[in-house]
Amino acid sequence: MSSTLYDFGMVGLGTMGRNLLLNIADHGFAAIGFDLDVSKGKLLEEAASKGTTVKGVSTLADMVSQLKTPRKVMMLVPAGNPVDMVIKDLLPLLEEGDIIIDGGNSHFTDTLRRIQFLEDKKVHFMGMGVSGGESGARFGPSIMPGGDQSAWTHLKPILEAVSAKVNGEPCVAYMGRNAAGHYVKMVHNGIEYAIMQLISEVYDYFKRSMNFSNDELHEIFKKWNAGELQSFLIEITADIFPRKDDLSSNRLIDSILDKAGSKGTGKWTSQEAMDLPVPLPTVDLAVAMRDLSVYKDERMSAEAVYKPKVRVFTGDREKVIQQMHDGLYLSTLICYAQGLAMLSKASVERKMEIPLKDVVSIWRGGCIIRSTLLETFTTAFKKQADLPNILLDKKIAAIVKKKQANLRKAVQLFAGAKVPAGAMSSALAYFDAYTSGRMPTNLIQAQRDYFGAHTYQRLDQTGSFHTEW
Ligand code: 6PG
Repeated sequence: MSSTLYDFGMVGLGTMGRNLLLNIADHGFAAIGFDLDVSKGKLLEEAASKGTTVKGVSTLADMVSQLKTPRKVMMLVPAGNPVDMVIKDLLPLLEEGDIIIDGGNSHFTDTLRRIQFLEDKKVHFMGMGVSGGESGARFGPSIMPGGDQSAWTHLKPILEAVSAKVNGEPCVAYMGRNAAGHYVKMVHNGIEYAIMQLISEVYDYFKRSMNFSNDELHEIFKKWNAGELQSFLIEITADIFPRKDDLSSNRLIDSILDKAGSKGTGKWTSQEAMDLPVPLPTVDLAVAMRDLSVYKDERMSAEAVYKPKVRVFTGDREKVIQQMHDGLYLSTLICYAQGLAMLSKASVERKMEIPLKDVVSIWRGGCIIRSTLLETFTTAFKKQADLPNILLDKKIAAIVKKKQANLRKAVQLFAGAKVPAGAMSSALAYFDAYTSGRMPTNLIQAQRDYFGAHTYQRLDQTGSFHTEW
């Protein structure tokens, strides 16, 4: 057995596990990884940078016996049963005070259950969101750890070293108690779904109503990425359009089937939002559109029945590009508003004490939803840590007021052209309802009382009232 004592262990040497471990080693920590597949351990060692200490082993016991105490063992295995299996195998090998980290996209209720189970055994368990994909893991992800504070103290130096940095500040921070790490990552993914849906709607309008070529689309998104819409998702969107297809003479984007996959985190966000309850309509819509995309054959049949004709745009193109830009900018801001309002409510309801100013700060770099907007939100939460909704911040309100008319115009353009824009419309509807001091729910109360004697409250008197309608 080697005499080197390792600082960090990884279970699961798929691309994410390998890349994160190599990143850890590059920052001067001795890193060891376990995978049943011996070839993955070899791949890890071969990919290690010169002068770093990296080892791949094929038994858990071999890895655990070479770790410094308290042992830090991270899992990057598929969510669900595999996580429980690894915990079961690890437990007999660990001692009191050791730390298990689940870096996958686990459901927060599973994380809560695991924390309680391991608490009895005096082993710390941290649910930790990791965002940024393969390249993020290798060169700097955004990391969202939650759970045990004392375990966080042990992990902090390593995670701060390997995370992405924005203005020298690490994109990792303690996200709160219990399952806060996985909860914050779940909401991150919900926002990710919503922004991706918004971008795809704008693409749809540009392509089908304005007949923009892929080269023109590339130019527009590239230009947008150099301005206030700058974000990772806009950047990769610009990159996608010029890519040639290896298997045909098309651009690759035009050869890709319009059925979206999903691993569930967007759906979990919507389900949990309804349970809290907190309104999250743009994420709900994004999930629904991915679901609808799967009904390809039925959509084709419906198209044959209704023969919708997309109205081809004629007019001032530059003006419309600007309206779409502002519509996308503001609806994206509203998506973040919905997600952050959900975290604010969940922080209290689920007893997680989530520091929202740290959430927006660590989302500025490394993660999929990183964007310059996050800088504005960080300033807002620094001013008021318990801001229930970013739309209430004065500086943000000033931005919203400037863009509002163009968001409205963009939604009209979509409807007029028969191009679906559920996400953008839902963002506008959320905004209009959120900023309505009086909603039409008085009528809903009257109806409920009419057919079910459910009673209603009055504006001018306290108590419950019922009318024989
Ligand atoms: C990230 C991503 C990552 C992944 C999700 C979403 O932050 O790095 O969110 O976790 O892309 O699994 O995938 P689906 O679109 O398949 O749900």
